Amino acid sequence: MAVIGSPRPTPTERGQQIYRDSAADTHNMRTLLLQLAWLAACVIADDITVYTDNALAAEWEDWSWGSTINYAATDLFEGSSSISVNSAAWSALSVKYDGGPFSSYQGLRFDIAGDGLDLTITISSSVDGTTSPNILLTDMSSTINSTAFTSLLLNFNDLPGLGSALGNGTWDRISWQAGANGDVYHIDNIFIVQQIIVPPLFLSAEPLAANTIAVTTQGAVDFSGLTVSLNGKTIDIVNTTSYIPVGTPANNITYLTLAQNFAQGTLVIDTGVPNGGNQTFSFTLPKVQYLSFVQDVNHPISPDIYGVNFPVDGPYIQDLGVTMSRWGGNAVTAYNPAGQFTNAGNDWYFENRVASPPDADDWVGWVEGAGSKALLTVPALDWVSKDATSYSYPISEYPLQSGSDPFLANAGSGLFPNGSYVLPVPDPSTVYTPWNTTMAKAWLSGLANKPTLVAIDNEIEITSNTHQDMHPVPMSYDEELSRMLNFSIAAKEAIPGVQVAMPSTCNWWYYWTSDVGFSDNAAHDNIDFLPWFLTQMAAAEKTQGQRLLDYLDIHYYYAPDTSANDDAAKALRLRMTRSLWDTTYVDESWIGVPPQQNQQWDNTIVQLIPRFRTLIDINYPGTKLSLSEFSSTNDNDITGGLATVDMLGIFGQQHLDSATYWATPDELGPIGLAYWLYRGFGVHFGANSAQVNMATPNPDTQGVYAATENGKLSLVIVNKNPDTPITFELDNMPFGSYFVRHFGGQAGVAKWQTTMEINSIDYIVVPAYTAVFMLQN
Ligand SMILES: *[C@@H]1O[C@H](CO)[C@@H](O)[C@H](O)[C@H]1NC(C)=O
Ligand SMILES: *[C@@H]1O[C@H](CO)[C@@H](O)[C@H](O)[C@H]1NC(C)=O
Ligand SMILES: *[C@@H]1O[C@H](CO)[C@@H](O)[C@H](O)[C@H]1NC(C)=O
Ligand SMILES: *[C@@H]1O[C@H](CO)[C@@H](O)[C@H](O)[C@H]1NC(C)=O
Ligand SMILES: *[C@@H]1O[C@H](CO)[C@@H](O)[C@H](O)[C@H]1NC(C)=O
Ligand SMILES: *[C@@H]1O[C@H](CO)[C@@H](O)[C@H](O)[C@H]1NC(C)=O
Ligand SMILES: *[C@@H]1O[C@H](CO)[C@@H](O)[C@H](O)[C@H]1NC(C)=O
Ligand SMILES: *[C@@H]1O[C@H](CO)[C@@H](O)[C@H](O)[C@H]1NC(C)=O
Repeated sequence: MAVIGSPRPTPTERGQQIYRDSAADTHNMRTLLLQLAWLAACVIADDITVYTDNALAAEWEDWSWGSTINYAATDLFEGSSSISVNSAAWSALSVKYDGGPFSSYQGLRFDIAGDGLDLTITISSSVDGTTSPNILLTDMSSTINSTAFTSLLLNFNDLPGLGSALGNGTWDRISWQAGANGDVYHIDNIFIVQQIIVPPLFLSAEPLAANTIAVTTQGAVDFSGLTVSLNGKTIDIVNTTSYIPVGTPANNITYLTLAQNFAQGTLVIDTGVPNGGNQTFSFTLPKVQYLSFVQDVNHPISPDIYGVNFPVDGPYIQDLGVTMSRWGGNAVTAYNPAGQFTNAGNDWYFENRVASPPDADDWVGWVEGAGSKALLTVPALDWVSKDATSYSYPISEYPLQSGSDPFLANAGSGLFPNGSYVLPVPDPSTVYTPWNTTMAKAWLSGLANKPTLVAIDNEIEITSNTHQDMHPVPMSYDEELSRMLNFSIAAKEAIPGVQVAMPSTCNWWYYWTSDVGFSDNAAHDNIDFLPWFLTQMAAAEKTQGQRLLDYLDIHYYYAPDTSANDDAAKALRLRMTRSLWDTTYVDESWIGVPPQQNQQWDNTIVQLIPRFRTLIDINYPGTKLSLSEFSSTNDNDITGGLATVDMLGIFGQQHLDSATYWATPDELGPIGLAYWLYRGFGVHFGANSAQVNMATPNPDTQGVYAATENGKLSLVIVNKNPDTPITFELDNMPFGSYFVRHFGGQAGVAKWQTTMEINSIDYIVVPAYTAVFMLQN
């Protein structure tokens, strides 16, 4: 939950480390087809040699760190020798070119051998410190091994796993950085490639909506022989439009408009060329499902549900249409606004550092300037960081520890080797400085830029774990309530009209009990924690004469385990969104499994939003509900993006008041695409959720969301089936021109959009693993 790793400074000096935060490694998955297609590309012309045998080529310098490197290894090689590398955790083979930038070159070629490699490749500039996105070796090949070299080609115009281009820059450095467990490998025949010839190829061709085929291609393909047939009869193509999508310049998208609408049966798209063994793309179009929209039955969608934590910058907010931005997570608990210091607690060796971003006031300013609301977290323990360098568990003082920071050997984990907390508890004043409501109030009153919402601390209930050094005592019901009350009063005095969100509880377990354990429930008449908290806040309003709790804020992380990310886990990821709303969906996890965890009704069924609406209605009516952290469970997989599309639809339909994704979605990755689908570049899903009636709901495999605004219909359909299209008759969908966006399907991650005429609603196709947005023009 809420892990912020170390910052990632850019490399500017020889040998400088490039920090890599595994939580921030956000990458897209592309299809194997795309990767195979690029591997088929061939290499010509005048390349720059980096290494062939015995030593780095002239003009290349070794800027590696933390690694044992032999440039003349003869245990596995091509030619006469290879480079053998043994990198410690987060260390790297890194080489820098003195012959000027290689920016006009098109790619990087190398041969590599090793087992279970977790390398991240970056291209960077020693001139201005710019660094490419993280490129994962595993996105280039999944069969690399130590018995033989695998040849790889990294296309600067189509970065593996991302599809984006490296772009302009004074590129002159390449690094292969190991993961948390270090990496041992051989690398050989490294070249900067002047030109990559991309063979023309149809990558995918899929049916979409009533009569459109969406085609992705690379290179100069020939459409003249392409034919489309339905149940054996050829259909004419009446219009062809092509464009290159934003962010993924290596692929063309072409929409073919057919003279006839789709219908149940077999659809065959024949490219008319051998196409590398994939001449035809065939689909079985299924029986239609009946669905109707009732635009007149609607309710407003809170505009604040399309939020993220820590947006990258103003353009990011505008491109994705982000409406709410949160400054939160474990590292803000110790945020000291006076020096802009912080400490991420057990997320990073209890080390103080400069906060990132450093200045909360500035942050609120630019976030609001870009058009988003700001949700600022106010620390609510007794301490905040006193400097940028101290840490709580020096190995020199506590020699017996389970580990230490790979970059700062004296900073220990705070755990004994057996996993229990290091004792004695350190004196907090060696790392922290006192903090209280007077200081919080002074800080908030002095802000030049006022947030719309403040949260009182972050997951404060588990602070004896996350911040064991400054608050080792388990947080009780009473202490938590007291801190929430005191800091909410301070915030409301400091910023008149500010809305307060709390207590930002981490998960299902702590919704109902405290870190003290069930004896604490027993001491409070066995009332579950959050319902009890609501009753106390209702009472506080009476004594204080004002509401101190505006939003009941919780974090929601799915309890089922999808970490295997195999077919079963992906299906579970897409199915478990039902736990947000479905009063019949039994959670596929430990939730509700005896012994008893709480006093809740139907306690195997999360039904998160309806449950909390009911608890609010009973205990403190009028309180809003927010999710200041939620996640799809996988930011890199297309299923994470599809699950996020489903969640954003559910939030609107189920009257959620505010939500911010944890952590920052990659703008070009699957989660970024989900936001783009609903909100990108100023084109929005409607403001009012409209009724959807489905004859066959099938929430495990599909989600349908409709909205209305100024009499115009907008809809989002997500097909969660990995390989079968779904089809609908969309009753009450007005005919006419629609703006359409979609992502997913056979061509992986890309921003696809077009305008189409809908003149029949009898048979609308949504391809497999695809989310579609349609807005009536
Ligand atoms: C090991 O790598 C070689 C070279 O890429 C490849 O031919 C072979 O199939 C790989 N072996 C396995 C078990 O993946
Ligand atoms: C990159 O540089 C080229 C040549 O200088 C220029 O034409 C192009 O506009 C630049 N692209 C971007 C995205 O800045
Ligand atoms: C896009 O398609 C055009 C026309 O077929 C072709 O000339 C061009 O090379 C393609 N671009 C890419 C990046 O595939
Ligand atoms: C494309 O053709 C290759 C080679 O015949 C094959 O391995 C691959 O599975 C095909 N891909 C699709 C999507 O049909
Ligand atoms: C863990 O190790 C510490 C230090 O050796 C020891 O004091 C403590 O009792 C151990 N805890 C457990 C549960 O074994
Ligand atoms: C907070 O600390 C300051 C400095 O020690 C002190 O003056 C102030 O009274 C404290 N406020 C509270 C509410 O304890
Ligand atoms: C909250 O404020 C009250 C009144 O000033 C004080 O007695 C109490 O100790 C404070 N709570 C905490 C946890 O500091
Ligand atoms: C083809 O489709 C494009 C995009 O919808 C549209 O702008 C254009 O007018 C269409 N052309 C014809 C001849 O219908």
